[in-house]
Amino acid sequence: MVDTKVNLSGVELDNPVIPASGTFGYGYEFAELYDINILGSFSFKGTTLQPRFGNPTPRIAECSEGMINSVGLQNPGVDKVISEEIPKMAKCFNKPVVANVSGFSLDEYAQVVRRLDSVPQIGIFEVNISCPNVHNGGMSFGTDPKNAADVVKRVKAETNKPVYVKLTPNVTDITEIAVACEAAGADGLSLINTLLGMRIDLKTKKPVIANKMGGFSGPAIFPVALQMVYKVYEKVNIPIIGMGGISSAEDVIEMMLAGATAVEVGAANLVNPYASRDIINDLERVMKKYNIERLCDIIGGAH
Ligand code: FUM
Repeated sequence: MVDTKVNLSGVELDNPVIPASGTFGYGYEFAELYDINILGSFSFKGTTLQPRFGNPTPRIAECSEGMINSVGLQNPGVDKVISEEIPKMAKCFNKPVVANVSGFSLDEYAQVVRRLDSVPQIGIFEVNISCPNVHNGGMSFGTDPKNAADVVKRVKAETNKPVYVKLTPNVTDITEIAVACEAAGADGLSLINTLLGMRIDLKTKKPVIANKMGGFSGPAIFPVALQMVYKVYEKVNIPIIGMGGISSAEDVIEMMLAGATAVEVGAANLVNPYASRDIINDLERVMKKYNIERLCDIIGGAH
């Protein structure tokens, strides 16, 4: 019998697999397909203070080994998330969840966290300072160490729950942002969000995506994500949730060897809605194949 448990800042997960924000709704959509309590946890759709309709369509472009999205943080706003989405989620998921929070100002991040803080099922806040699909806010907080630190300080003042910061890869040195977040009090880091990308339609000779560019994710970015997790692990002493193209149990092990304590599975859920479940079900086989008894023992093992 292998042990797949991991611990994120005091929140114990049965396994390290967490469907990523924006690829798993509020969980209940997937609960029609399988018992989602098999998951370690999941990160629900990025929540803003006001409802957001999102970006104009088309918002998705396909690529080999990946996809580009420009959803634009579509969500019903924090009040409806609390009154309508979380109660539906709680009916089918009985573990702590990760609340992904987005904002366009320091005050907005603070207000959203303040309101969500009273939801008992939220175990971890994941503060998204890396959305590439909105102007002002989003990624602009995540590309400057001081701005990133300011968000962390404001959010930490609103909650005693662990605060993880979701980092963008679209910077020269991600470790600089990671170190600034840790110094400002972040309890952990999530990395990487999507890489900025685009496609052009040869018939129209115009960008495929209405917003022209979007976030590139999927298996193609796995090696990029892996090297960033590896580098950040060497510079910080807080847990890392690794993500970027994870689509198999082998990828989970590799990401943990690079330094991740847990992983998020994103684009794979959109290709196969059972992907996160299938990865969890395959973990034991892969652990036995590589003589791993306890997953938590391999974190950072490649260093
Ligand atoms: O556009 C979106 O909703 C995506 C958000 C993100 O990648 O952080």
